[in-house]
Amino acid sequence: MAQIIDGKEVSVFIKDKIKARTAQLKEKSGLVPGLAVILVGSDSASQIYVRNKKQACEYCGFYSESYELPADTTQDQLLELIDALNKNDSIDGILVQMPLPKQIDPQAVTEAILPEKDVDAFNFVNVGRIMLGEYNFLPCTPAGVMELLRYYKIDVSGKECVVVGRSNIVGKPMAMLLLHENATVTICHSKTADLPAVTRRADVLVSAVGRPCFITADMIKPGAVVIDVGINRKPDGKLCGDIDFTEAQKIASFITPVPGGVGPMTIAMLMQNTLTSAELKLKRRN
Ligand code: GUN
Repeated sequence: MAQIIDGKEVSVFIKDKIKARTAQLKEKSGLVPGLAVILVGSDSASQIYVRNKKQACEYCGFYSESYELPADTTQDQLLELIDALNKNDSIDGILVQMPLPKQIDPQAVTEAILPEKDVDAFNFVNVGRIMLGEYNFLPCTPAGVMELLRYYKIDVSGKECVVVGRSNIVGKPMAMLLLHENATVTICHSKTADLPAVTRRADVLVSAVGRPCFITADMIKPGAVVIDVGINRKPDGKLCGDIDFTEAQKIASFITPVPGGVGPMTIAMLMQNTLTSAELKLKRRN
């Protein structure tokens, strides 16, 4: 049976370090890291994420603001709020929860956030920096996966890593972070000819597809490390990932559960980026 990777435990370990660094920063400079979270519309999953982010801010000792805007908010109204937050010195990070209603262009919104406050690392400058390996912020979910691997002393150097999914938020940056750690990386997607043949090569398999039970046990190499980024809701309302967990755990060496795997790490890394942003602001001042 695979060892379960406990994302809750690792996220608390990281948040406790952030909490201590935040207390030091406050004592040294009077600065308190500040995060603004904006939610447009009332998607229930997004509301839960926003609430969890607020709680994490409280835990770490951050200042936080949350904005819940109606679903018919215009792009100009949202850009106006971002402009005000860009100019607000008590805010170090601005996060606009995705997905956005269709009258709003998500890239236009992302580009409006100052790169130094773009704690999601979604805008052109930060994506470009990640490509070059010269970054201040890493996108939260892929960074959270790398922290899990580090905590469990899983070295990816020279290993075959397969990422299923090519989104800008997870798949593409995930592949880049694995590459920075000297993995041999393959990215699969909906047009991949023989997906099981590719996933069976993986020493480390990361799935970010968003479909329940998409990765079955026969697609996993015995002894592989299996990371599930999917958060899906089954017809009975329960959460599940992309991986058929019950069968996969009989084959894998390590596996992340859903919930309690990658999810809590995403929020921990958002806290990390917000603290980094506050520390960089202080450096620019001095
Ligand atoms: N929606 C799903 N994941 C994310 C994320 O990492 N950041 C934002 N802003 N929205 C999301």
